[in-house]
Amino acid sequence: MNIKEMQEKIMKLKKEKDICILAHSYQAKEIVEIADFTGDSYQLSVLATTAPQKTILMCGVRFMAETAKILSPDKKVLIANKTAGCPMAEQMSVEEISAFKKANPDYTIVAYINTTAALKTVCDVCVTSSSAVSIVDTLENDNILFIPDCNLGDYVAKQLPSKNIKLLQGGCPVHAQITEADVLHAKELYPNAELLVHPECKPEVVAHADYIGSTVGIMNYAKQSEKKQFIIGTEISIAELLAYECPNKQFFPLSKKLICTDMKATTLVDVLHTIEGCGGEEIILDDATIHAAKKCIDRMIELGQ
Ligand code: 13P
Ligand code: SF4
Repeated sequence: MNIKEMQEKIMKLKKEKDICILAHSYQAKEIVEIADFTGDSYQLSVLATTAPQKTILMCGVRFMAETAKILSPDKKVLIANKTAGCPMAEQMSVEEISAFKKANPDYTIVAYINTTAALKTVCDVCVTSSSAVSIVDTLENDNILFIPDCNLGDYVAKQLPSKNIKLLQGGCPVHAQITEADVLHAKELYPNAELLVHPECKPEVVAHADYIGSTVGIMNYAKQSEKKQFIIGTEISIAELLAYECPNKQFFPLSKKLICTDMKATTLVDVLHTIEGCGGEEIILDDATIHAAKKCIDRMIELGQ
């Protein structure tokens, strides 16, 4: 079967089986093409609540599928590749954050959505890269523990100097490996290009950016900009997708190191096998976890409106 035939088979089966396919914007083009919706983490979490289908098939990493299950517990939620997990999501434990809460009851715990369902149960509110600044700004409490990404947390803290934001050592291993030297090298190669970066990058990288935002924020900015060349400081798929969508513009990945092997783990074959019932994994979470984790995701959606 070639790619086109496989895509046609998936399109037919997902209709017959009433399945909504959600794909994160880091997914490969052939997966984005068969998805009902593609978006950043925030958009996917909202779409999970509004999709009319009874089954959701997530092409992304595990915390995204867990978020869909938490928001739609009555739906069947499948992850296309069960090995796809975000390493950052598992960097902090429930015990560690519970102990912080006990010792610091006057702090609001803000969790980046890239966290496990279990960790969300002990947090107060979730944020995504696109909503972090506005949601933390809205919180009445100025004392904030922001977990797990200290780079995104640093970015939020710089935008909101009146808040007392405490950070722990965590972050995305893919974005965090980009150095200021990588930025200077890329700028030297493409002096007329605008630099667009994800806030998961280190502060010294973010400091050089013309635009800082989520995966979809970066894509929208590049599409609307009058500039013709862009250095893309996030996972390499975004530069590739933009090249397809804007053939009259040029997109250069900030570094060849920007490859998330977890996001790349899902293939079109995985999607087909999951729909056929011989691959993927159904996300199962107990009621107590769903109930407790939902509070902090609901709060994010409420404050993000
Ligand atoms: P977005 O929130 O921009 O979709 O990012 C998710 C992610 O995993 C970035 O590495
Ligand atoms: Fe997680 Fe980083 Fe991969 Fe995003 S790019 S899924 S934050 S490891």
